[in-house]
Amino acid sequence: MKINGQPYRAIWPKPDDPRTVQIIDQRHLPHQFIIEDLKTVDQTAAAIQDMHVRGAPLIGATAAFGIYLAAVTAPQSSPEEYSAFIQAAADQLRATRPTAINLAWALEKMLAVISAAGGFEEKISAARQSAIQISDDEAEACRMIGVHGLDLIAGITKKKDGAPVNVLTHCNAGWLACVDYGTATAPIYAAHDAGIPVHVWVDETRPRNQGARLTAWELGQHGVPHTVIVDNAGGHLMQHGMVDIVIVGTDRTTYTGDVANKIGTYLKALAAKDNGVPFYVALPSSTIDWTIRDGFEIPIEQRGGDEVRYIQGLHAGEIKSVLLTPDTSPAANYAFDLTPARLVDGLITERGTCHASEEELRGLFPEK
Ligand code: MRU
Repeated sequence: MKINGQPYRAIWPKPDDPRTVQIIDQRHLPHQFIIEDLKTVDQTAAAIQDMHVRGAPLIGATAAFGIYLAAVTAPQSSPEEYSAFIQAAADQLRATRPTAINLAWALEKMLAVISAAGGFEEKISAARQSAIQISDDEAEACRMIGVHGLDLIAGITKKKDGAPVNVLTHCNAGWLACVDYGTATAPIYAAHDAGIPVHVWVDETRPRNQGARLTAWELGQHGVPHTVIVDNAGGHLMQHGMVDIVIVGTDRTTYTGDVANKIGTYLKALAAKDNGVPFYVALPSSTIDWTIRDGFEIPIEQRGGDEVRYIQGLHAGEIKSVLLTPDTSPAANYAFDLTPARLVDGLITERGTCHASEEELRGLFPEK
């Protein structure tokens, strides 16, 4: 996607420096655009844990590049020491964030590729190729989600005689979360680019405000009309016929179609069901957990309470953090919630759209 007319991805290997990977440090958006160099596994793990990068597909791609950096920096004193370093790096990266399955998915792929390669140089080159491939595959899956999701939006505008389609989305499931295109935003960008009028209601998404800060910024960069709303506004808008479709992303979806996504998603699904608004989840297949039947088995990350107690923003040209709550009040910070399959009207994947059910998911992915 483009920033000020220049194409970017959310992560890429630094040109002319094979020992460095670059990311957009998302903590500073939308006020500052800062590119960060990652050279070590520690830096990569910190970037994931502290949310310089976030979003399930991007966390997976970043972990893959982290293993590439491990392959580059591992001691070459013996094959055993080299392998132990890679394994420790994978364990460290896996422990950074528990909910998004893409992290473990990418790490397993990387470990298999490295163990199958011969000498040290071969392992480094295989790791680099594989990390780039994972990143390219995630971008392509999101592009295809856009192709399939476009049909849904085109169908709605036809029923509205060409009037703008109002999409509500939660968190940031845009290209910043996904290498490129985004999951929930891919159909929106595809529709906008096809000349279909779309308008997006952007949930601010407390506590880290990924909607207000990231989704709003990237939609604006692409020229998509949008309005930021407080997290509690969605139900009201749905009651008044102001939302045509809800599209969200997911951090992990079971093979039965239960969806874990950013905290607050469940409440949007309930409001959508009560008001007959279609509720869709967009996801690449790397986000499907083929080992879990019941969504309540998905680990839900709890983050530090200060993310709730403080809020960050721009003041007099500087980014500041301010205390919202009484100084002594503790805060709980559940980062994700579960939306049961029965509340989901459809899943938009790179292979097409299906009902949120085991039968239909396996129909799209028979090899699983
Ligand atoms: O905690 P985050 O920002 O890493 O959360 C991930 C997300 O961006 C959302 O939950 C998103 O809707 C799913 S990932 C495309």
